[in-house]
Amino acid sequence: MKILAIESSCDETAAAVCDGREVLSNIVATQVAEHRIYGGVVPEIASRRHCEAISGVTREALTEAGCTLDEIDAIGVTYAPGLIGSLLVGVNFAKGLALSSGKPLIPVHHLRSHIAANYIGRTDDRLKPPFLSLVVSGGHSHLVEVSDYTDYRIVGRTNDDAAGECFDKTARCLGMSYPGGVELDKIAQTGNADRYKLPWPHVDGSPYDFSFSGLKTAVINQVHNAAQHGEQIDVPDMAAAIRRRVCDMLIDATVRAATDLGHGTVVLSGGVSANSELRARMSDECAHRGITLFYPELKYCGDNAAMVGVQAYYEYLSGNLADNSLNAYATMPIDNIFK
Ligand code: KG4
Ligand code: ZN
Repeated sequence: MKILAIESSCDETAAAVCDGREVLSNIVATQVAEHRIYGGVVPEIASRRHCEAISGVTREALTEAGCTLDEIDAIGVTYAPGLIGSLLVGVNFAKGLALSSGKPLIPVHHLRSHIAANYIGRTDDRLKPPFLSLVVSGGHSHLVEVSDYTDYRIVGRTNDDAAGECFDKTARCLGMSYPGGVELDKIAQTGNADRYKLPWPHVDGSPYDFSFSGLKTAVINQVHNAAQHGEQIDVPDMAAAIRRRVCDMLIDATVRAATDLGHGTVVLSGGVSANSELRARMSDECAHRGITLFYPELKYCGDNAAMVGVQAYYEYLSGNLADNSLNAYATMPIDNIFK
């Protein structure tokens, strides 16, 4: 079953053609360079750029897959959560295509598709629910029990900032450009993580929740204090300390939840799953406990439409289809059943 998928939830305009778990094409037009000037995504600019890029990106995805719209069986689109103006561009474009071609329209939740990035290139014998997923992106940090391809239960979440947001904000404070997570990860390779002491906040009463705002504030305070004393923060050392602390929190909660809830499989997803320390240390921790760990190929960690196409396939099998009244939503829980 060939699905044309569209993704426009933040600052990447993306289209892909998928056949089940197989990716036939995957085109991403990123706006990062433009938003970098402002230190973060400017929603108004993002919507306009999606408008300009979406037709060309979709045409390219069809061409690279070697098929015409006639040969597509259904249209999948990210409808929530994300920047509302950005989502609306993709949703309306997909609605237009579905209406004019008479093909089914499949609404896809953005975080569900990040989890589905792990199915790409793996047969369903190798990875299928149930499993526990750590979903860590720029806007969300969740621990999710995935009981079936469209059945989710959130067992832990951040109480404040998302992990990606924490990386981006602390990186910015250290002088790195948006989105700082990737650069911080690179600079941290040469740093000494023991030099700066950073807090590890625990959330009372919610054993698998995380909190990153205390860590962010501690970094900002140390940077400001150093500046006031005319001292320089060693950027690689601070980057290494931040990266280690974020990983400590994510790994600790994930491994405890997997053990307590009896999950033998853990799956990383979202942009932060590209983090090299998270991948390496989570692999070690899981291996010690006999837990099987999966994470997406690097090119499927960030926002892309291939993951949307793969999740759309499972939504289709579950009968989760939309009609032309489909709307976009800035927030939407992952366990919402779309009807
Ligand atoms: O999933 P994603 O591409 O977009 C959202 O849905 O938010 O995640 C983007 C986030 C950004 O905060 C970015 O800095 C972070 O993922 N990120 C990383 C790395 N690569 C991307 N954070 C830490 N280490 C990385 N290597
Ligand atoms: Zn994302």
